[in-house]
Amino acid sequence: MPVVIVDGQEIEIGADERLNCIEAARRAGKEIPHYCWHPGLTVVASCRMCLVETGQRDAATGKVTMVPKLVPGCQTPAKDGTVIVTESQLVKDSRARVEEALLIDHPIDCPICDKAGECLLQDYHFEHGQPERRADLHPFTSRRRDVGPTVSLFVDRCIMCTRCVRFTREVSGTGELMVSARGSQEEIDVFPGFPLDNKLAGNVVDLCPVGALGDKDFLYQQRVWFLKREANVCGGCSAGCSIHTEHNQDTVYRLKPRENPHVNKWWICDEGRYGWHHLHDPARILAAGRRAARGTNGHGTPGSDFDAVEWADVVTRLRDDLKAAGKLAVAVSPMLTVEEAWMLCAVARSIDPEAFLAVGHVPTAGGDETFPGGFTIRAEKCPNRLGVEAVVALYDPAVRQWGDLLTHVEAGNANAAWITGGYSRAWIDEATAGSFAELSQLVVQDLFDSPLAAHATWRLPAAGFAERAGTWVNVAHRAQAFVQAIRPPAGVWPEARLYWNMLGRRGLYDAVSVRRQIAESSAAFAALAGDLPATGVDLRILQFAAP
Ligand code: FES
Repeated sequence: MPVVIVDGQEIEIGADERLNCIEAARRAGKEIPHYCWHPGLTVVASCRMCLVETGQRDAATGKVTMVPKLVPGCQTPAKDGTVIVTESQLVKDSRARVEEALLIDHPIDCPICDKAGECLLQDYHFEHGQPERRADLHPFTSRRRDVGPTVSLFVDRCIMCTRCVRFTREVSGTGELMVSARGSQEEIDVFPGFPLDNKLAGNVVDLCPVGALGDKDFLYQQRVWFLKREANVCGGCSAGCSIHTEHNQDTVYRLKPRENPHVNKWWICDEGRYGWHHLHDPARILAAGRRAARGTNGHGTPGSDFDAVEWADVVTRLRDDLKAAGKLAVAVSPMLTVEEAWMLCAVARSIDPEAFLAVGHVPTAGGDETFPGGFTIRAEKCPNRLGVEAVVALYDPAVRQWGDLLTHVEAGNANAAWITGGYSRAWIDEATAGSFAELSQLVVQDLFDSPLAAHATWRLPAAGFAERAGTWVNVAHRAQAFVQAIRPPAGVWPEARLYWNMLGRRGLYDAVSVRRQIAESSAAFAALAGDLPATGVDLRILQFAAP
């Protein structure tokens, strides 16, 4: 096994692993400060913050020959016998000088900078910088330049690491950003008339190690030290990107990509990044309602004639109404988690043992879009079609789809229907909703009112993605578990809580216990039995191949 020696500590690396000194040192628990290097981009070795001492140990004699000068750790491969010194006085002096040089021109405007609290320049200065500033303090300026619809550039804060420029060339493939001028005059800019406007543009803000690139959506909304973050999964499409939901007091402020080599690497698309605003939309359904006499307002004003029902009463009255109607059909939304889908099917079959179960509407938009860096935005705009299909298959191997349910209802084979949604955008037209007009009971559970509300006898709120806990299975069969990040608005029970109570379970909904129960009862979900790693597990065992 090849061995690398980091500050005297021997660490083993894989025979065909291609690590640089930064990555090798990390294995030994040593963090080499760096600005311009990023594992997802090419190496330019321009910032010089990662300079270390290196050498080579002779395998036969054990003699170490050191390189006579410091080398960039990001650009230097760590091979068998490589010696890396990260804590010598020479290295420390070098880091302090780099910090000092960067701070001569960088405005000290941390109190008004959005990056304060998560800025590498701040952090490295405290850890590696000079104790005193020797250069003159200039009055700071923060020249702000609009580089695109979502991103602002604070020109004077830039340390010219060029991560953003490389991202647009290598990952998004759009190449909008460039370095203009040279030497002390160089700046990041866009060519006139060609703004930074691509579907991955927000990633340049994450890449910026200082506060030069600001996300207009987040700018001045919240100090980062007030934010709490939860490991979550994006519900915007079937890619199921790993994200962090950053929130404070039950309000989401931003979504950030969470590194997952199996799914999204370091990136997310802007559609997902900004796809949380609907959580706080005042138009959301916020209370459970029951309509005594359907159509009393002529079907013209959806939602205006529902009587509010306490949740404790919903649990029993909903069951009674559906039982009295008989012949139940249920659409299990692909926005639900595996756990929610499983409990919904169990509730439906406890009401009507012959209940017709189908996968709910699967929204799509265009085709899959893959970028030069390999990142793909999926056309299927729901996170858990595969998971819901596998759950429905546990109850009915035929795995019926939304279209089958419509045919079933239109043929008069159902007296009642329970349609789950959770969609953040309009998804059903009036003509399709009309298929449910003659049913004696129609339960609609969704985030927003739709044409279905006109025919509903029960209108129930749904939870948003950050308000759920459970597991989603993405288009590549990867199952990722996540916890609830924020509480839903007052009056809203997440679907899981309702189903949990309708199944007569005691206490609070516990996603882990439900997941374990599913895993124990089904070979398809057996891999979900233990604690799931943050990057998820491969559930390729599912027999429903992605299209
Ligand atoms: Fe190595 Fe910038 S990180 S030179």
